Amino acid sequence: MATGVDIIDSQHQSLLQMVNDAYHELDKDVSEIVFQRVTKELLGYAIYHFQTEEHLMKEYGYFEECPEEAALHVDEHRSFSAKVVSARGSVDSEVKEEMEQILEFLNSWILNHTQNVDLKLGEFIRLKERQGGTEENV
Ligand SMILES: [Fe+2]
Repeated sequence: MATGVDIIDSQHQSLLQMVNDAYHELDKDVSEIVFQRVTKELLGYAIYHFQTEEHLMKEYGYFEECPEEAALHVDEHRSFSAKVVSARGSVDSEVKEEMEQILEFLNSWILNHTQNVDLKLGEFIRLKERQGGTEENV
C-alpha cells in the first residue's frame, strides 16, 4: 500500500530494495565487512529518507495539527536508526543467521512503519494538497 505521496513512495521502494540487495550480498559473501557496509548504506539512506518525511511534516503543519502522531512518527524514525546502530555494534561473529535475522527485523520494521504511520502522514499531506498546498500557500 502506498502513501500516495510520490517522493515518499519512491524512497520506500529504494529502502526495501536496499534491504533486498543486502540479503543477496550477504548470500554471496558472508562476512562482517559486507554486513557493516550494507547496514551503513542502509542507515545512511534511512536517515536521508526520514529527513525528507520530517521536512514534509514541518512544511504541511503536521506537528501543529497532529502533535501526537507526529511525535510518535519521529520517535519511530529515531528508534530505527538506534536499532541499526546497535545491530552494527552487536554483530561480532560471521554467523549468517545472525546477520539475516537483523535484516529480517529491519525489513519488517520498514513494512510495519510504512503501512501504519507513513500512511497516516500520506493521508494528511494529500488532504492538505487538496485544500490548497502548504501552510505558506493557505
Ligand atoms: Fe516515516
